[in-house]
Amino acid sequence: MNNRDRWRVYKRVSVMFFLAVVALTVVQRGSINMGAPFELERQARMDASEEMESGAALQQRTDSYMGIKGFWKASKRHPLPRAPLRATTRKPIVTEDNSPRTWDVTSSNCSANLNLSSQDWFRNLEDNFKQFMLYRHCRYFPMLLNHPEKCSGEIYLLMVIKSVATQHDRREVIRKTWGKEKVVDGKRIKTLFLLGKPSNEAERANHQKLVEYEDYIYRDIIQWDFLDSFFNLTLKETHFLKWFHTYCPSVRYVFKGDDDVFVSVENIFEFLESSNSAKNLFVGDVMFKAKPIRKKENKYYIPQALYNKTHYPPYAGGGGFLMDGPLARRLHWVADTLELYPIDDVFLGMCLEGLQVIPVKHNAFKTFGLVKNKNSKLNREPCFFKSMIVVHKLLPSDLKHMWNLVNSDLVCSQKVEIL
Ligand SMILES: *[C@@H]1O[C@H](CO)[C@@H](O)[C@H](O)[C@H]1NC(C)=O
Ligand SMILES: *[C@@H]1O[C@H](CO)[C@@H](O)[C@H](O)[C@H]1NC(C)=O
Ligand SMILES: *[C@@H]1O[C@H](CO)[C@@H](O)[C@H](O)[C@H]1NC(C)=O
Ligand SMILES: *[C@@H]1O[C@H](CO)[C@@H](O)[C@H](O)[C@H]1NC(C)=O
Repeated sequence: MNNRDRWRVYKRVSVMFFLAVVALTVVQRGSINMGAPFELERQARMDASEEMESGAALQQRTDSYMGIKGFWKASKRHPLPRAPLRATTRKPIVTEDNSPRTWDVTSSNCSANLNLSSQDWFRNLEDNFKQFMLYRHCRYFPMLLNHPEKCSGEIYLLMVIKSVATQHDRREVIRKTWGKEKVVDGKRIKTLFLLGKPSNEAERANHQKLVEYEDYIYRDIIQWDFLDSFFNLTLKETHFLKWFHTYCPSVRYVFKGDDDVFVSVENIFEFLESSNSAKNLFVGDVMFKAKPIRKKENKYYIPQALYNKTHYPPYAGGGGFLMDGPLARRLHWVADTLELYPIDDVFLGMCLEGLQVIPVKHNAFKTFGLVKNKNSKLNREPCFFKSMIVVHKLLPSDLKHMWNLVNSDLVCSQKVEIL
């Protein structure tokens, strides 16, 4: 046995020990705080997080502000009558089709499209794009973990969060902060995490077991049988839309975002109340006329062979955006007809273009830039966070800390539109 093998065995034993501890915790129904044991995984997660950063080309950003003006001032919460009958008096939304009510994909038997290898443009592609192209036609995969019950009944806001197997502590802190499920003025909020298969091949079985235990405790993870990788984020988008279309006929609004962002649900509510149930609501940190990136060393590089137009359609940064339920259902139909594109938020922009819906830019969504500037004072300014809807990108401990500050007796002079 060499050192490497010994290390392997040691890791296996540690994981098994950990599983035993988790199982015991479940059985005893004691405190279900999984924070500390997951400390071990932190490093792995940090590595993965670099890969999974969401959002795309920041090349050319217009400052056109199409947001709903005056929303911060106008939005003195109208005190809603707390009528307990609300939920039962509204008619259920009737869907426009007879699509299946269960996930209808049970086999992931999809082989590489070897037709491509005879074509010049394909042979000139970088390896990761080759891999993407070879499996681009594989549209849907089976489910590994599912929770159709999440969408039963009327839901006002469904929050879905892109995550990966090893990010236990991000999910943990989201559950305790902005992702906490609750009912506000009779409006239900539900939270779900979207996962693919663990990407670490050697540890896949172990990571999967951990995810299953976590889901056993919280029942809020849905997972599909495709590899969690950067280019597969678009699959996560299309799978969510199909899932939503299948199981969620009565959801008013959807918030979709990353697992490393700060979100103010209170501000989402204020915003939705002031936007007067606009049709085709799609709002976020929208880029107009962004150019595809042609520098090979950039994470968002796209070869000409994949996209040859000069601009992308308007799209919202994937770090966090809001849309209405009916629009999400229509997006599923369009997404189904388009070729997959390796950048998920651009892909969604293409779907919106197909529906001729122009996404709305709102300054309270900060998913590009800003906090990347580590020295910015705004990073530590709770009054800034208090006036935002989404701010990317925070470590779990910082998120917890900021959440506590924002939800303490914080006195801010006013909700200002900073920047
Ligand atoms: C997968 O597909 C191949 C060819 O399409 C077929 O030969 C094979 O039996 C299939 N396997 C399963 C498990 O369905
Ligand atoms: C490969 O080419 C054959 C014949 O042109 C076609 O029938 C098949 O659908 C192609 N395969 C894929 C995965 O596109
Ligand atoms: C996406 O997931 C599928 C299924 O796991 C896998 O075959 C494919 O290689 C992945 N694509 C990329 C680009 O990682
Ligand atoms: C751009 O791509 C489309 C579809 O792949 C192709 O039909 C068109 O000829 C291309 N245009 C240029 C200028 O390369």
